[in-house]
Amino acid sequence: MPDSILVAFSTIHGSTQEVAEQIAATLREQGLAIDLQPAKQVRSLDAYRAVVLGAPLYMFHWHKDALDFLSRHRKALAQKPIAIFALGPVNSVEKEFTDARAMLDKDLAKFTWLAPVVTEIFGGKMEPAKFRFPYNLIPAMNKLPASDIRDWAAIRTWASGLTTKFQLV
Ligand SMILES: Cc1cc2nc3c(=O)[nH]c(=O)nc-3n(C[C@H](O)[C@H](O)[C@H](O)COP(=O)(O)O)c2cc1C
Repeated sequence: MPDSILVAFSTIHGSTQEVAEQIAATLREQGLAIDLQPAKQVRSLDAYRAVVLGAPLYMFHWHKDALDFLSRHRKALAQKPIAIFALGPVNSVEKEFTDARAMLDKDLAKFTWLAPVVTEIFGGKMEPAKFRFPYNLIPAMNKLPASDIRDWAAIRTWASGLTTKFQLV
């Protein structure tokens, strides 16, 4: 009987990884065995009884590694609970959150078999001075102010509720 929970993530600039680490830490505090892995490196879900998958939105889409993860593990995910989160908005305005949710929902709708126990949008982080290639080549993006609207209390609260959503308690 698999007994641990996988927290899988993808990231380009690191902020989603830090959120995944916080979710993993919160679940560990509840006494659960947690495996934290980049989504791209996960070969099998056999060892896990539930999965948390998180990735950022870039250019109107959820990151490709997360979408590939869903395709690759379709069979296993049809039989295990999965919780999904995306980072996106970098300003605390309602419209950015509504737009981000629409982007995530649109990408997830392609996986007609997928039934997450929860999907969530978290505010993200943007640091133009540290953009990686090719994002450092987009003049309009480089002029944006740095921001970090990750709400750590909300992230911890969300993570604390996962065991109930996964029906592990
Ligand atoms: C080039 C670029 C494009 C982005 N596109 C979107 C987008 O389409 N929708 C959105 O909600 N957020 C978008 N974001 C915001 C990112 O999702 C946010 O900065 C996130 O925290 C980045 O995650 P990471 O640090 O794990 O790579 C974009 C950010 C950059 C730098």
